[in-house]
Amino acid sequence: MSSFPRTRHLMRRGAAFLGSETAILCGAMSWVSERNLVSAISNAGGFGVIACGAMTPELLDAEIAATRALTARPFGVNLITMHPQLFELIAVCAKHAVSHVVLAGGIPPKGSVEAIKQGGAKTICFAPTLALARKLLRSGADALVIEGMEAGGHIGPVSTSVLAQEMLPELAAPESGNSHLVFVAGGIGRGELIAGYLEMGACGVQLGTRFACAEESIAHPNFKKAFFRASARDAVASVQLDPRLPVIPVRALRNKGTEHFTATQREVMGRLDREEVAMAEAQLQIEHYWAGALRRAAIDGDVENGSLMAGQSVGMVTKEEPVAAIVAELLAECEAALSRR
Ligand SMILES: Cc1cc2nc3c(=O)[nH]c(=O)nc-3n(C[C@H](O)[C@H](O)[C@H](O)COP(=O)(O)O)c2cc1C
Repeated sequence: MSSFPRTRHLMRRGAAFLGSETAILCGAMSWVSERNLVSAISNAGGFGVIACGAMTPELLDAEIAATRALTARPFGVNLITMHPQLFELIAVCAKHAVSHVVLAGGIPPKGSVEAIKQGGAKTICFAPTLALARKLLRSGADALVIEGMEAGGHIGPVSTSVLAQEMLPELAAPESGNSHLVFVAGGIGRGELIAGYLEMGACGVQLGTRFACAEESIAHPNFKKAFFRASARDAVASVQLDPRLPVIPVRALRNKGTEHFTATQREVMGRLDREEVAMAEAQLQIEHYWAGALRRAAIDGDVENGSLMAGQSVGMVTKEEPVAAIVAELLAECEAALSRR
């Protein structure tokens, strides 16, 4: 990092906040962001984040301990706000003195940000709009992630470039008088783009797709092969069938699993119609579907029927590389771009 002075300068606030060498987060990826990838990212000078997903408090407890055994550097834990045991999971993070908790999957429920702070951790929240970003900061979020629809996994409707233009000048650019900590995510495949977002006021960036197939990732070889073969246009967003069941779209590589999801939505909608399930339960069933489908592809290697969650930057993922090589390449590209200015 010492050889990238311009990048280091623009990342200094993000890196100080995270306690890492560089302000490059590897966004939590369910099943994939476990002890091996998370520790490798932090050991390479980035910031790894454990994906708690649907884990029980006991499993999270074991995963944090195992990650800590592999790295002395800081890492975070990503919790899904709709998890029924959210507050128990927050307590597990506090028990292990986890330094950063990322709240994903919706607006944090009442008391959750406070509980995280009481446990001694910093809170990072996803901000889908400028108004919500301001609200989250007022409610105590220490930093924000803005994530565009190019990303892999669950996505919002707006592109990263537009979100960055709407949010960064208002929230994070020094000339705005506001210097909130905002990380940009979604569609980042190369360092030149990182340079652009840093210049606009971002304190750092978050990538997922680019790291999913790193050497240290436990993703199944079939899952990795599917990534290496895919191009941007293969990473498509799921379609919503019925506005009564507002499911968050998911971006994944097109396969038979994409059709299974449509069938699952139809089935859950039928149960809603027959009043066999309430809306919240219906939405939770959809989330469980995704968790199971991703496991099937990422862990079991069933890349036909499982979910191959991937962002549009997947076309830039062409080979298995160590995390350190990916981080070094991103930093070198960012620095070269800044030097040319
Ligand atoms: C396979 C996969 C699984 C993901 N799972 C989660 C998750 O469990 N929780 C979450 O907050 N984000 C999840 N994400 C989003 C990433 O954390 C990250 O924000 C995103 O990948 C960044 O965009 P990019 O894919 O364009 O780099 C996932 C992304 C991928 C590719």
